[in-house]
Amino acid sequence: MNADASAAFDLEVESVVKKFAAFTAVDEVSFTVPKGSFFSILGPSGCGKTTLMRMIAGFLEPTSGDLRIKGRSMLGVPPNRRPVNMVFQHLALFPMMSVAENVAYGLRRRGAGRAEIEEKVAAMLARVGLPDAGEKRIDQLSGGQKQRIAIARCLVLEPDLLLLDEPLGALDLKLREQMKVELKQLQADVGTTFVYITHDQSEALVMSDQVAVMNAGRFEQVGNPQALYYRPETAFVAGFVGDSNRWIGAAVAVDGRGIKLATDDGLVLYGTAAGRGQVQSGGSLDVFVRPESIAISRSGKDMESWHNRVQGKVKNLLFNGANSRAVVIDDKTGFELIVALPQTGEFADLQRGETVHLGWSAEQTLCFVHDGAAEAA
Ligand SMILES: Nc1ncnc2c1ncn2[C@@H]1O[C@H](COP(=O)(O)OP(=O)(O)OP(=O)(O)O)[C@@H](O)[C@H]1O
Ligand SMILES: [Mg+2]
Repeated sequence: MNADASAAFDLEVESVVKKFAAFTAVDEVSFTVPKGSFFSILGPSGCGKTTLMRMIAGFLEPTSGDLRIKGRSMLGVPPNRRPVNMVFQHLALFPMMSVAENVAYGLRRRGAGRAEIEEKVAAMLARVGLPDAGEKRIDQLSGGQKQRIAIARCLVLEPDLLLLDEPLGALDLKLREQMKVELKQLQADVGTTFVYITHDQSEALVMSDQVAVMNAGRFEQVGNPQALYYRPETAFVAGFVGDSNRWIGAAVAVDGRGIKLATDDGLVLYGTAAGRGQVQSGGSLDVFVRPESIAISRSGKDMESWHNRVQGKVKNLLFNGANSRAVVIDDKTGFELIVALPQTGEFADLQRGETVHLGWSAEQTLCFVHDGAAEAA
């Protein structure tokens, strides 16, 4: 690799494998992270996220493969010699020191002068929205404030790469919602490359430029949030990112990417082949339809244009403001569908037991060759 090409990437991971005895925790993972971007690794518990992160930080050596930061291989380079800092889920602030002393800690260890330390600490506290917190004790901070200080303590060292391992995991939902907006803004302001790991898809989608979806030690797909959401390449990604109605079915007829299929419950649908596998007539499928791609109507007028149509009764209403849904049972098969309710207010008075008509397109009925991996999602 020549130096110019690699300068564009702060991190390059090439065919990295980590084995613990016979168990492969990270399996041939490769990816690149452009300078100044926000890259997330999203996957369920135990899929290997922290193991991968620890190899990048230098706390673990890969069994095979290479890791480069700014074009330089990190193999054999100890953690403190890598231009990397890591924020842990269970943050380790020093409780006996003030906030300012915590943030100053790394600079002091590097032997920075007093004036420089004071200036950088003050600037960083302002950056994370806590300009007056310097004299406080750690136990006088809220959970979210502690997390900001933990991040400030790393950022003040101006690493090329900041690694964050589920940094919002210990916070309550409301605070997490707020912190994810703040963290994205902070990353945009400072321009430091972030590699962020989480099992929370909403965190990954909201904050990231690129997301890698990880499953059982492997990367299933790397893409921007829109690509993962609208064009999943595997059944696992379709199931793990966002909500979907999902069925197992069998292909009845295949014409190019168009598929006629029957679900296990006996519903006949029209779908589109997705992902890498080749769908064969008679083959088993994983089928996904997003709640928001289903149109709902009380009258049943103008539904003819949809490839897929169902008439059913409202079994349940899941009111959640802008995210409200209805559970509808197909009259013919007893089959349940979750449908997003449009924000027009037209369905604000929808009642349980009411008859509704549903319609959706074949393009939004994604069919993957069934491989069993989707059940884990
Ligand atoms: N030092 C170790 N020795 C043996 N097995 C390990 C070791 N570290 C991790 N593992 C195993 O590797 C797998 C991946 O662990 P890892 O901590 O990377 O998962 P994770 O994706 O970070 O999960 P979580 O979301 O729960 O933090 C797990 O099955 C774990 O038990
Ligand atoms: Mg972990």
